[in-house]
Amino acid sequence: MKTSTILNVTLAIALVFLCYKLAVTEGEKAQKQEISEVVLNNILERTSIRSYQDQSVEEEKIEKLLRAGMAAPTAKNKQPWHFIVVTEKDLLQKLAEANPHAAMAAKAPLAIVVCGDMTKALDGDAHEFWVQDCSAASENILLAATGMGLGAVWTGAYPSEERCAAVSEVLGLPETLIPLNTIVIGYPDGEVTPKDKWQESNISYNMYNEE
Ligand SMILES: Cc1cc2nc3c(=O)[nH]c(=O)nc-3n(C[C@H](O)[C@H](O)[C@H](O)COP(=O)(O)O)c2cc1C
Repeated sequence: MKTSTILNVTLAIALVFLCYKLAVTEGEKAQKQEISEVVLNNILERTSIRSYQDQSVEEEKIEKLLRAGMAAPTAKNKQPWHFIVVTEKDLLQKLAEANPHAAMAAKAPLAIVVCGDMTKALDGDAHEFWVQDCSAASENILLAATGMGLGAVWTGAYPSEERCAAVSEVLGLPETLIPLNTIVIGYPDGEVTPKDKWQESNISYNMYNEE
């Protein structure tokens, strides 16, 4: 074969390889952008859902909700939490009766009670970080629920002593577990539009700005 032919073939192969690499990179970029849009849309689409279809939540989805919860950041990576998965109808009914603000639990197939575990919480003035840790886990659960076509609502317990005592009694919680909330979950019954909460006046850039 002539030297010029070998050179041309080599150049052609190099060109094809370059085009392929470029296409893959562009494809990956587009995919990354798509994923970030999916994540952002999921956050913006989340809204509290309080009415559910008469349909149970699959075990695999429950595990995914828990995995999402446990993926949350925590102060000093303490993970000071315990999640109580409630699927028994009579317990859901009791949770609803124990807290009128969680009445929707009576007609839900699932609730996850996010508890702070005081045996794992930090000491001293960092102690209350458990609330932020468990709140981060709770929001993760809400977002995961939205992402899987489920609807969920956070019903608060802590810091209300009355609500904490009521939830603790229903579930037989030891003193070391404090229920932060009961996340009531199910397949949404009907459409609910997320609220638009964007408000420029809630933002300051760099220094605080009153306007
Ligand atoms: C700390 C906390 C406590 C809440 N407690 C309750 C509750 O007891 N019952 C309820 O129906 N919703 C409760 N919610 C849900 C809020 O009412 C809801 O997030 C708020 O109205 C904004 O609506 P959205 O979630 O659809 O954006 C609670 C939310 C948070 C963050």
